[in-house]
Amino acid sequence: MENDYKHFEKLFAEALEQASTLEEVEHVEKTYLSRHGKLHELFTAMLALPPDQKKEWGQKLNILKQSSLSQIEQKKATLQDQWGEQIDVTLQKKLPLLSSFHPLSQVEREVVDIFISMGFEVWDGPEVDTEYHNFEALNIPKHHPARDMQDTFYLEKEPYVLRTQTSNMQNRILKSKKPPIRAIVPGRVFRYEATDARHDCAFYQTEGMMVDTNISVAHMRYVLATFLQALFHKEVKTRFRPGYFPFVEPGMELDFSCTICDGKGCKVCKHTGWIEFLGCGMIHPQVLKEGGIDPEQYTGFAFGFGLTRLVMMKYKIDDIRLLHSGDIRFLKQFAQ
Ligand code: PHE
Repeated sequence: MENDYKHFEKLFAEALEQASTLEEVEHVEKTYLSRHGKLHELFTAMLALPPDQKKEWGQKLNILKQSSLSQIEQKKATLQDQWGEQIDVTLQKKLPLLSSFHPLSQVEREVVDIFISMGFEVWDGPEVDTEYHNFEALNIPKHHPARDMQDTFYLEKEPYVLRTQTSNMQNRILKSKKPPIRAIVPGRVFRYEATDARHDCAFYQTEGMMVDTNISVAHMRYVLATFLQALFHKEVKTRFRPGYFPFVEPGMELDFSCTICDGKGCKVCKHTGWIEFLGCGMIHPQVLKEGGIDPEQYTGFAFGFGLTRLVMMKYKIDDIRLLHSGDIRFLKQFAQ
């Protein structure tokens, strides 16, 4: 079996290499991969093997089949390209599915693209961080009741915690450069929470901040509305409500008009017409100062939203636990 397998691989590779027109590639496909082709002979031979070997070889042959098919498709695509024929843009869909991005990664990539188009830098941050960056630098001192808003996992090795928010990067970003600053931070965060359909102890957020002279709430509203419009490909209304976060003043929450019912009221928006989306506000002068920026000279805004919730909204996923279940039946529905 081993020899036949290697022999097939070699002959197939040579034949494909030599094929220089579409017809020739199709001929190779027919000779090697069709129902009467050489690969089929290997499958027939595999059936005669003892059971333990049959399983192993069955898997190997399936992988061989997938990769041979995708080589054929790739070669066809290159040839079509070379000869200036019309490119079939749907071709990718016809390739056998070997892998795909997780729905969280797909939406994260969309979010990142939109902010890059508005001139924002993309930062990464540590998931295990110091209490200073996660709390103190954000105006949440030790033993202050505001810490109760976000209970987390404390590591035995002080002063480390699992970050509860991507805001843990604010201080580092402020210290890293002089304004103008435009940055976003997508990433995973952790909370000490009981798990249910809507809560998990690990989920994803995206932070954003902009600092310069004369930055106001108007800039914040414009940036967020532009972002939502680009994400949903349609006009989206926004509204602010007062909200409390120790590191912004004034602090707000932003809702957007439900994209499912266009604000008329449905199950998703609990018949209010609005979706609660994010926390935001003007960066507290104390936080700017702590980051080495003079609050007399500069102002800025910050916001943070739940990427996980956005994905659930977008794809109408009703249980957060599915996202980390590793269940292939779930993931396949999002394969692109
Ligand atoms: N970090 C806050 C949270 O996790 C959200 C937020 C970010 C609020 C930035 C204001 C400014 O809830």
